[in-house]
Amino acid sequence: MRGTARDLIGQAEATLAAAGVASARLEARLLLAHALGAEPASLLLAATTVLDAPALPALLARRAAREPLALILGRREFWSLDLAVSPATLIPRPDTETLIEAALAARPDRGAVRRILDLGTGTGCLLLAALGEFPAAWGLGVDVAPAAATLASGNAARLGLAARAAFLCADWAAPIAGRFDLILANPPYIESAAIAGLMPEVARYEPRRALDGGADGLDAYRCIIAALPRLLAPDGVAVLELGAGQADAVAGLARRAGLVPLAPRADLAGIARALILATNPPAAAGRGEKTARAKKHLASRCETSSVPSHGSNRRPGDGVPASGVIAGPGTGAQVSASPGSAPRDVA
Ligand SMILES: C[S@@+](CC[C@H](N)C(=O)[O-])C[C@H]1O[C@@H](n2cnc3c(N)ncnc32)[C@H](O)[C@@H]1O
Repeated sequence: MRGTARDLIGQAEATLAAAGVASARLEARLLLAHALGAEPASLLLAATTVLDAPALPALLARRAAREPLALILGRREFWSLDLAVSPATLIPRPDTETLIEAALAARPDRGAVRRILDLGTGTGCLLLAALGEFPAAWGLGVDVAPAAATLASGNAARLGLAARAAFLCADWAAPIAGRFDLILANPPYIESAAIAGLMPEVARYEPRRALDGGADGLDAYRCIIAALPRLLAPDGVAVLELGAGQADAVAGLARRAGLVPLAPRADLAGIARALILATNPPAAAGRGEKTARAKKHLASRCETSSVPSHGSNRRPGDGVPASGVIAGPGTGAQVSASPGSAPRDVA
């Protein structure tokens, strides 16, 4: 396509609007800038300059087919971090930043947070944002998708956080031993039957494993919450993202696992978005047979892999995977993880 920036943006806007893209003008400008390899702001100065943009039609066709803008650009900002994104995992959402706000509110003692675990790390957005805020911390990001773990590892390297982050391909926390001061998770929580009705950008382009929370949307919470009592340090907190309307159900699962849910934090739309879970205060600890039975039931449903004990050659509180290199489930992908060393993908 050839024309002045103003004309090209106008044509691109018309194409996108006809395809049902909501912010057609803004996206038209971003796509033209991407096609030219230029900064979007520079187009304002070049409104009447004639430009050649041979890459623009293909980019417009992708967006008109409702491929997410972030996937076309290959980037998305989260908590002021510039992250690479890919079809391997969810594109980070602004709502998810509520988890970082909640973590900062729950752990104002920033220097005391030393070990962070991020379950379902995806791009690594939560872990990397948290490492930026808790300067003394080392973090482990876990994802079942090898390509997501590799993407997150690359993001850590680009942001200069590789020395404090490691990534592991695993089924939630099954192979992890040790305890963490802060555990973050944005699990898949959409009810299976609702996925087909989501906007095309999500239903067609984001991986089902990042969305699908099972029949009631709570499958992943059951697995994650079952593991939290053995993973949280005594003063540790877990912060879980919630789907709209899930706060009571997830808080109920947490209570039955012996955890203490605090008031959820709302996102900018006023939706309860981040649930903070603490370990039992001593007075409330050991609620007896019923709690123990509930924990055992949850654990047996969710953790089929053997969980290494804390007892052998690791201290409780080490907060590291039981093995230095752990194979991804059925994938052959391996990611090594050890505090203080850069993540090493050996797939
Ligand atoms: C909703 S996305 C969240 C990604 C990222 N943390 C964020 O907030 O944008 C959920 C992530 O969990 C991962 N996941 C799904 N099932 C998993 C499992 N059994 N074990 C570990 N990760 C899993 C998906 O691959 C996906 O990257």
